[in-house]
Amino acid sequence: MAGKILVLGATGNVGRPLVKALLARGEAVKAASRSGKPVEGAEGVVFDVADPLTFPSAFEDVDRAFVMLPGGYTEAKALLSPVIEAAATRGVKVVLQSVLGVDADDSIPYRQVEIALERSGVRWVVLRPNWFTDNFINYWKPGIDAAGVIAVPAGEGKSSFIDTRDIADSAAAALTTDRFDGKAFNLTGPEALGYAEAAALISEAIGKPVAYQAVDDDTFVSTLVGAGVPEVYARFLASIFYPVREGWTAVVTDDVQRLTGHPARRVDAWVKENVAILKG
Ligand SMILES: NC(=O)c1ccc[n+]([C@@H]2O[C@H](COP(=O)([O-])OP(=O)(O)OC[C@H]3O[C@@H](n4cnc5c(N)ncnc54)[C@H](OP(=O)(O)O)[C@@H]3O)[C@@H](O)[C@H]2O)c1
Repeated sequence: MAGKILVLGATGNVGRPLVKALLARGEAVKAASRSGKPVEGAEGVVFDVADPLTFPSAFEDVDRAFVMLPGGYTEAKALLSPVIEAAATRGVKVVLQSVLGVDADDSIPYRQVEIALERSGVRWVVLRPNWFTDNFINYWKPGIDAAGVIAVPAGEGKSSFIDTRDIADSAAAALTTDRFDGKAFNLTGPEALGYAEAAALISEAIGKPVAYQAVDDDTFVSTLVGAGVPEVYARFLASIFYPVREGWTAVVTDDVQRLTGHPARRVDAWVKENVAILKG
């Protein structure tokens, strides 16, 4: 009989829709978070990525796991390597949420986690999503509300933003079949948009001016720090706009379609669905 699926970050942007998708497929899910509360009707379990003492009970009765690093953390290798080891020791298949582009250089910490997983001896799938569409609410909405601007150091770079529900659907597919084992997938939306184009879509939907303002790293960091983001995380966020300015995040793949059987969701559709939140 199949074991349970452990979902890390189960109340998060990707985790919550993933829990829902797995339950809809009839899977038994252990929804992990620091609070350990049940999620969408799934059993909850306490898990702290920074506290390996929480790992054994989280992995009990589990044969597959969705592994991710919660937002706000920068130490991908230090924090995720013990999780990969815990899964490997128990023969648990891992679907790892990584980041688009990290395979460009084996010295990148996220790539080192991928390599450790590939060599671990357990079944694995790596998902490398592009920038999330949901960031327009989770990260950039305060700027939209306060000043009608999205002020980021993206230059003229475009990104094929991905809807987190498509990451969740891709992870659900990877967790519930062995067809994709041993492969890495670059998850993108269906088209690349610049921040000015995204701002125009939001502006039209909410009926007030929203403009993209290209800023330098220091301006970006001081705005985030002013909004309460720790400086180390603000600097990390600034650094990951470099690939955007270089044009590397404009790549479009059909990997969501290959994994899920449906096309990736569009940014304009996401904006329309979220207009009440964007206005609120
Ligand atoms: N945003 C992007 O554009 C983007 C693009 C590509 C890749 N990514 C990758 O995606 C990751 C974030 O994914 P996401 O947005 O789905 O995550 P998220 O929503 O930020 O994750 C929050 C979830 O993690 C849990 N959590 C927080 N701290 C924890 C801890 N110390 N130990 C265990 N669980 C903890 C939270 O519950 P509790 O608070 O109750 O513990 C919640 O369930 C990033 O780290 C990045 O690596 C992001």
